[in-house]
This record gives sequence, C-alpha cells and structure tokens, in this order.
Amino acid sequence: MSTNIAAGNGSNTPNTTPAPSQSPTSNVSRPASPATVPHVPIPRRGVGYRGKVVLAPMVRSGELPSRLLALYYKADLVWGPETVDRSMIGTIQRTNSRTGCIEWSRPQNKHANSLVTEDGEKENVIYRIDSKRESDRLVFQIGTNSPERAVAAADLVAPYCVAIDVNAGCPKSFSTDGGMGAALLTEQNGDLLARILTALVNEVGQKHEIGISVKIRLLSTPEETSALVHKLCKTGITGLTIHCRTRPMRPRERAIREQLRMIGEICHSHGVACLMNGDVASRDEAVRLAQEYGVDGGMIATAAEANSSVFLSESEGGKKHWREVVTQYLRFALEVENKFGNTKFLLSQLMPGKEAIYQRVSQCRSYTAILQALELNNDVTMSEMAKNVDSLLHLDEPKVSKSDVKKANKAANRAKHEANIARKKRAAEEFMQAQQHKRERRTSPLREQTEARGRSPERKAEIAADNAGFEGVGQGALQVAV
Ligand SMILES: Cc1cc2nc3c(=O)[nH]c(=O)nc-3n(C[C@H](O)[C@H](O)[C@H](O)COP(=O)(O)O)c2cc1C
Repeated sequence: MSTNIAAGNGSNTPNTTPAPSQSPTSNVSRPASPATVPHVPIPRRGVGYRGKVVLAPMVRSGELPSRLLALYYKADLVWGPETVDRSMIGTIQRTNSRTGCIEWSRPQNKHANSLVTEDGEKENVIYRIDSKRESDRLVFQIGTNSPERAVAAADLVAPYCVAIDVNAGCPKSFSTDGGMGAALLTEQNGDLLARILTALVNEVGQKHEIGISVKIRLLSTPEETSALVHKLCKTGITGLTIHCRTRPMRPRERAIREQLRMIGEICHSHGVACLMNGDVASRDEAVRLAQEYGVDGGMIATAAEANSSVFLSESEGGKKHWREVVTQYLRFALEVENKFGNTKFLLSQLMPGKEAIYQRVSQCRSYTAILQALELNNDVTMSEMAKNVDSLLHLDEPKVSKSDVKKANKAANRAKHEANIARKKRAAEEFMQAQQHKRERRTSPLREQTEARGRSPERKAEIAADNAGFEGVGQGALQVAV
C-alpha cells in the first residue's frame, strides 16, 4: 500500500496494537488492555487487512474485470461480489485454456451469453478468478445462513483467494428473506453468524491457511453493536468490516460514524483488524478517516464503481478521466471474456450519463460495436480480441433482443386493434344501411295503405298471384294486388 495508516501492520507475525484513543461511548463494554493483546496471526497464505484501502464487495459491479481494474489502479485488496453458497455447491470447475482463468460453471439455462466450453457444452459461469493476477489479493465473499453449506462452498474457492468473507450486511430482501446478509446480525443474537464464522475458521481457514472475515452493519444502539462485535471477534476471524449504516438506512443516507471508534477498539482488543466502509470517496479520504477514528483501513464501493482510479492517491496523480478508465476496463473485460450484459452495465456506471456517447454505447450489441462507438476500433489488438469474444459469446449473430420482441408484439397488437376497429365500422355501416332501408320501406305509400288495412303488400301480392295462377311473387302480381 502506498500510504500509511496508523493502526498497525499486515504482517503474519503476532504484534501488539497501539494504545487506542478514548471511546466517546461510555456505557459499552470496554475492550481488554490493547497493550497485551496480540494480533490474531495471519495464516501463511492469508493477508492482513491492516493499512489497506480495498474494493468493496458488489454484486454485478464486482465481477472479474472490475476487480482487475481496481487492482490496476492500486487497490490493496479486492472483494468479489457476494456469491450464495448454494449457487457454488455442485458447480463444475475448469481452467479456461484461452484466458487462464478458473471458472465455476453450471450447464446452460435460458440465460444469454453462455460460454461454449472446449467440449462444445454451453455453460453459465457462476464465478471466475484470475489466479495469476488477483489470487494473492482476492477476498471471496459468501452469502450463507448455514455453517455446513458455507464450508462446502468456501472450500471450492479457498485455494485461489486470501480470505473468505461472510456477508452479514446486505439489507435487501433477496438476502434477508433467505436468512442471509443483515438477517444474520440479529438471528439468535448473532449466534448463528458466530457459528458460521467458527466453522469457516476451523474447517476452511486452517485447512487452506487463509483468513476468515465478516462484513457487518451497525446495530441500532452502541450496546447491541458492541455485544455483537465482541462475539464475532472471538471466533478466530482476522478482520471485520463495518459498514457505517444501520439496516434500515438507505444508501443515499449519509454514513454515520458515532460507533466507529468503539468498534475499532473492540476489534483491536481481540487482535482483529477493522476496516471502515460507507461514504469513502477516495484512498486519501480512507486514510484520513482511518486515522481519525482509529481503525485499520477503508473499503470503497460506489465511488470505485463510478471510477476505479479513486484508489490512486493524489500524490500518485489521483482520479483519472473516465475515457482512460473505460478503455482499461474494456481491455480487461475482453481479456477475461466477460459476459456482455455485465460489461455494458459496468460501462453505464463508468461513463457519465450526460455524455452523448453514453446513449450510443448503451445501444451497442457487441464488443466490436462498443469499440466503434468509443472510437477505439483503431486499436488493432483490442479489435481482434473483440471479434473473437463476440464470436465466442455469439454476439456476432443476428439476435432477437427483448426489445425486438416487444416491438414486434406491439406492431401485431396495433394491427389487430386496427382490424377490429375497421370490422366494427363496417358492421355499424351495414346496420345503418339496413335501418335506413327499413325506414324507407316503412314510409312508402303502398306499405302505409296496405298496412293500414292490416296486410303486408308481400302477402297481398302472394294472394293475388295465387288467384292469377302465378308461381311466384313478381312485379305483375304486385301490380294485381295493388
Ligand atoms: C451495486 C452494489 C452491490 C453491492 N453488493 C454487495 C455485496 O455483494 N456484498 C456486500 O456485503 N455489500 C454489497 N454492497 C454494499 C457495499 O459493499 C457497501 O457496503 C455500500 O455500498 C456502502 O459503501 P459506499 O458508501 O462506499 O457505497 C453493494 C453495493 C452496491 C452499490
């Protein structure tokens, strides 16, 4: 890491933490004397979180090319997106011979952009790791509510990362409804979460010699948070990240820091590293806040999603122009054959929405088209890669998109609607004509006369015709009748 954060080192050797500053919260349980507390030892293949500014776990926004981009701009560690234990268990692991990446996949379902493996099978990639470029700095985050499943899933990726992190902070219903994410903060007063962490420490951390950590949110009172943090720190974890928002707080609400110093102190009392998260805009700000609140480092999510070069300190040149970041992102996306939909999503985050080019890129249907829209097609290497990846992901084939289907359905409905209107119009005209005809017949003098006498002219004509020996009712018979 390029900047210094006061709270300690990330080495594997046990160490003593510096004396913490006074906690502003008086009625929470006090941490043990820090002078006598060693750091929890960092396992041989693990990495300490002390002094680090890291990329936050982000579903969709934390796929492999985003992590490579953050590392390129000097993030110290990168968290992968939360991956639910059940989705990993039962996957097939392969090394992609073209990219060198390790991929965990399932046979294809209806989703697009499936890769064709060398055996000609179509598969959906659930998780992808670039073992050469990220394994020494990758933290795999798991979504779970079961110690057994957590261990089974983590065991698959543990050889290719430096730590397993448990997501206990996601407040979204897709996570909490399944008893995962922020639901773990209160489930059995945090006991289930503690059991999950203990199982991971004993059965994955020790076996693979990597660290286990957890990411939590604030509970509503310092007392509750304090009790939970103490409980979690006793499980053998090496790090804890605190997202400085409570469970009901929305992302747009400013992060709150009141409990932060206390949490840092509790972590230190157990020898556990503490990262802070929430409204951290850059490396320099992470360093400043960590020093101010006595924690060990910072984690950045949305600011890095919008521009990953926030990991560069001002002294290293600071944030780069979006065009430079987007070009580098596309290089990584092509190198690792990233899913096209995910690449487009990330581009929508990295490009300023106000730029006209944003609209053009959002309409592109292939990597080649994106390079053209961004005027990067004169880069021969990138163009060649784009052609290959387009072919691999079938993006070069004419494709019926959802919006095409929508348009076609709309046109068919419109045609049906118009035909209906025309049919009704015709029926109405016919009806009107019939009415008119009836009216005309009703008002003819002959009808008036005969009807006045109680017989229709047709019946009279028939009688007359019979009398005259005619077969049918003709003009002549009518004349007779009249
Ligand atoms: C698109 C997106 C996806 C996220 N996915 C995860 C996730 O998978 N796991 C997790 O623990 N937090 C997730 N978060 C929360 C972030 O890691 C982070 O805690 C939160 O955004 C606050 O940090 P910030 O203020 O820097 O954005 C996600 C946030 C965003 C914006």
